[in-house]
Amino acid sequence: MGEKLKVGVIGVGGIGRIHISSYQQTGEVEIVAISDASLNKVKQVQKEFGISRGYKDPEEMLEKEKLDAVSICTPNFLHASQSILSLEKGCHVLLEKPMATNTTEAREIVKKVKESGKILMMGMTWRFISHYSYLKRLAQQGEFGEIYYAHGKWLRRRGVPGLGGWFTTKKMSGGGPLVDIGVHALDCMLWIMDFPRPERVSGFAFQKFGFRAGDGGWPPPATRDEQDTKNRVFDVLM
Ligand SMILES: NC(=O)c1ccc[n+]([C@@H]2O[C@H](COP(=O)([O-])OP(=O)(O)OC[C@H]3O[C@@H](n4cnc5c(N)ncnc54)[C@H](O)[C@@H]3O)[C@@H](O)[C@H]2O)c1
Repeated sequence: MGEKLKVGVIGVGGIGRIHISSYQQTGEVEIVAISDASLNKVKQVQKEFGISRGYKDPEEMLEKEKLDAVSICTPNFLHASQSILSLEKGCHVLLEKPMATNTTEAREIVKKVKESGKILMMGMTWRFISHYSYLKRLAQQGEFGEIYYAHGKWLRRRGVPGLGGWFTTKKMSGGGPLVDIGVHALDCMLWIMDFPRPERVSGFAFQKFGFRAGDGGWPPPATRDEQDTKNRVFDVLM
């Protein structure tokens, strides 16, 4: 095997830790450094996963470390600026969904990808789940003929992830469940159908249960600190 890919992870909360453990399991990646706005988390994760260098500021990490690629696992409103910065510093990027909080930001990311010649991959993980990749293969083989109707859904019976933190604050998350988990269902359907061009988009959003829905156990309690939910804002629609 050749040299290991040198990777940095920005944001080591719930999903950032999963990126780290998954990279380590491949045996093909060296996690060179991590960064997180919470130094507590940086220290915990360094210890837990044996990572020698940790930073509070992602920009400092990108300046000081020689990285091939970064994973961006921060709240949604940071995705555009941190992706653009990482691409400018010469890194390939694995970016968590949703890509950004609006289309202007998403277009800026795409522009920077083209300018930099680097790869940016969105973390659309459903495409790698075996039943969806099987459906994709059948669609490609023409098993379904012309697909003219598709229905996708994902139901969270109870619980709001990160209740009272960035997840439920519109200016940080960009929206509610459609933005958080709906992107997986939408992406997967469009991907299986080979991205038909939308003619029209309409939708409904509601806010009924709010704080009564309780905490859904995500991000996993062990990965949080008080900071994460202290603003108690819930202004996204469900
Ligand atoms: N692919 C999936 O199915 C999946 C699952 C969960 C989360 N996600 C996505 O991953 C991202 C993170 O979600 P999470 O559940 O891990 O949230 P989280 O709140 O557990 O983790 C986010 C981390 O980012 C850190 N952070 C905040 N501001 C920062 C900054 N300026 N620089 C560096 N670090 C900063 C926080 O301290 C926190 O540790 C979100 O975009 C979410 O949509 C994707």
